[in-house]
Amino acid sequence: KLIVAASCALALIAGQTQARDWNDIRIAFDVPYEPFEYKTPDGELTGFEVELAEAMCAELEANCEFVIQAWDGMIPGLLARKFDAIMSSMSITPERAERVLFSEPYYNTPGGWFARNDFNTDVTDMAAMEGKVVGVQRGTTMDTHVTNEMSGIVTVKRYTTAEDMVLDLEGQRLDVVFVDYPVGEQTIMNRDGFKEVGEPVKLGEGVAVAMRKRDADLAEKVNAALRTLKENGTYDTIMNKYFSY
Ligand code: ARG
Repeated sequence: KLIVAASCALALIAGQTQARDWNDIRIAFDVPYEPFEYKTPDGELTGFEVELAEAMCAELEANCEFVIQAWDGMIPGLLARKFDAIMSSMSITPERAERVLFSEPYYNTPGGWFARNDFNTDVTDMAAMEGKVVGVQRGTTMDTHVTNEMSGIVTVKRYTTAEDMVLDLEGQRLDVVFVDYPVGEQTIMNRDGFKEVGEPVKLGEGVAVAMRKRDADLAEKVNAALRTLKENGTYDTIMNKYFSY
C-alpha cells in the first residue's frame, strides 16, 4: 500500500512538473462577441480571434480544441485547467496580469458608447448623465471604467452576455451601452435606429492571449507564432476580413 501511495504521489509530482509538449491546446471563447468570436447561422464558430487561433494552431502544428466559456468564468476556468488559453478580446490590465500570463497584444480596442437615435445626452457630462441606465458586460474593462467613473451617478446594469445587453438597448431598458468598439460597430450600428455617442475610451494595453503563469513555454510558442503570422501576411488577411475600418 505504501509503495502504491508513494508511486501515486510521484506520478502526481511528475505530472505537475513535466513540461507539456503542447501538441494539444484548448482555447476558450465567449460567444457571441462579433466580430471577435461568434457563430454563423448554421452554428459554426468563427470570427477574427477564431481564425487567428486556427492560423496560430496550424503554425504550432498543434491540435486545438475550441471551448465556449462564459466571460465571467474565463480566468477561473483557465486557472482550473478547463482550457489552456483565452482568446476572447481580453484586454491586458495590471489586475489581470497578476493572475494570468499575456502574450504580445494582437489587437487594440477602445470602449465605445452606443445608444438609440433618440438619446441626446453627452456621456461625458456627469450632471446630464444622472439617472441614466448604462449597460456593460460584467467583469469587462468597460464595467471597471463605468464602476470607477460613474458609480452613484448612473445606474449600471451588468450583463453576463453582450448579446442580452444589446437586446436591452433595443428594448429601451437601457439608455447607453458601453462595449468594445468593434462589437458596437458590428452588432449595434449595423441596424437602424442606433448611433455612436461620445468618444471611444482607451482601456487596457491591447488584446492578447491569456495563459497560466506557469505555462511560460506555451506563451513563448504563442508569441513566436503570432510574430510569424504578422510577418507572413496571414494576420493582415484575417484582420482585413473582419475589420473594414
Ligand atoms: N475587451 C474587454 C475586456 O477585456 C471585453 C472583452 C469581452 N470579451 C468577450 N468575448 N465577451 O474586458
